[in-house]
Amino acid sequence: MIERTIFIENAEQLITLKGLSGKPATFEKMSSLSVIESGAILIENGIIVDVGTTEDLRHKYSSKIEEAECIDASGKIVLPGFVDPHTHIVYKGSRENEFNMRLNGATYMEIMNAGGGIHSTTSKTREATEEELFTESMNRLNKFLLHGVTTIEAKSGYGMDWDTEYKQLKVAKRLNEEHPIDVVSTFMGAHAVPKEYKEKPDVYVELVINEMLPKVAAEKLAEFNDVFCERGVFTPEQTRLILEAGKKYGLIAKIHADEIEPYEGAELAAEVGAISADHLLKASENGIKAMAEKGVVGVLLPGTAFFLMTEAANGRKMIDLGLPVAISTDCNPGSSPTVSTHLIMNLACLHMGLTPAEVITAATINAAHAINRANEVGSLEVGKKADILIANVPNYMQLQYHFGMNHTDTVIKAGEIVVQ
Ligand code: NIG
Ligand code: FE
Repeated sequence: MIERTIFIENAEQLITLKGLSGKPATFEKMSSLSVIESGAILIENGIIVDVGTTEDLRHKYSSKIEEAECIDASGKIVLPGFVDPHTHIVYKGSRENEFNMRLNGATYMEIMNAGGGIHSTTSKTREATEEELFTESMNRLNKFLLHGVTTIEAKSGYGMDWDTEYKQLKVAKRLNEEHPIDVVSTFMGAHAVPKEYKEKPDVYVELVINEMLPKVAAEKLAEFNDVFCERGVFTPEQTRLILEAGKKYGLIAKIHADEIEPYEGAELAAEVGAISADHLLKASENGIKAMAEKGVVGVLLPGTAFFLMTEAANGRKMIDLGLPVAISTDCNPGSSPTVSTHLIMNLACLHMGLTPAEVITAATINAAHAINRANEVGSLEVGKKADILIANVPNYMQLQYHFGMNHTDTVIKAGEIVVQ
């Protein structure tokens, strides 16, 4: 954080998302963006000091503004920096060969069960040095920043042995320290059953529970504990054991749930009190209702469905059932190699039935709720971190209307201009 005063003024729309930090937004609250026309925002030393109309703030702070660095946002909108609550950015290599196999008819699970998929990235990640992993992941973060993302979650899970999981978590920690984007860590030792344990998956579950989780907790390497609960990967019972064990160490539960087949992952998320359940393409209505009742955030990943050529999760129905919904890139080398929150927003409208206003909430404050950061980011309110995106469109609907375009104009992270 630096000592500096910044005044942004004349925004066509200043999207504050005021009043949604207490709990995740549901139903019509997902459309309550609290837009200020001709908006302005005053930032001091990395923190939002005031938000209002340009006229009011110019009047109230005239002498401060004389000294401040002023940014004219005429013709543009100002909104919270995007929060991406589900990524696998710390990995080595790429999987375009599998992309080609899928174009020729192979499915994602067939490729994985034949030893490719997550296993292929795991081999490369195991071989990589910490420095190589750091450099590759740093490059990805740079691209995220250019798309207006200011906070990101990053999972381990391409090690599935302690040394590599540890290496990934250390890289995530360093990225958080050295890159402007805040990186929030999730341990995902249970991303797949590693090849060495193919015939004895329960032994691997025990390894995660008895050896990996205690080490993650002892070094405070992660805040969340995630499991890929899917037929052929981890069963709901194994998932429950891993998540309950994590909770004893203070790790908050997350689940990759009901992505490929219905498997009662949504129900399990509600039962274990997960902060989020992610994917949910095949989640049951009862599961969604149970999540809604417990306030579990549904993190939807429209880019993954798009890239795997499957029907996207029914986000419209989920919101209508009362589920708080967030969206994310799911950036990873197999099922969603993208850094574009902008494209994800387009897809959330076009393939999931969300409205442009709901999409903004899903990519900001609800995404912050999904990673326990809603008290500091995800909305533009007094006292919050000045994580701000200025987008080169005159209204927020144009963000979703143009597709495949990056509308980022300026990014401010903790009060510092990091993209201009
Ligand atoms: O969220 N579904 C499981 N995990 C990732 C994909 C990981 C990979 O294919 O490398 C996901 O889509
Ligand atoms: Fe994922």
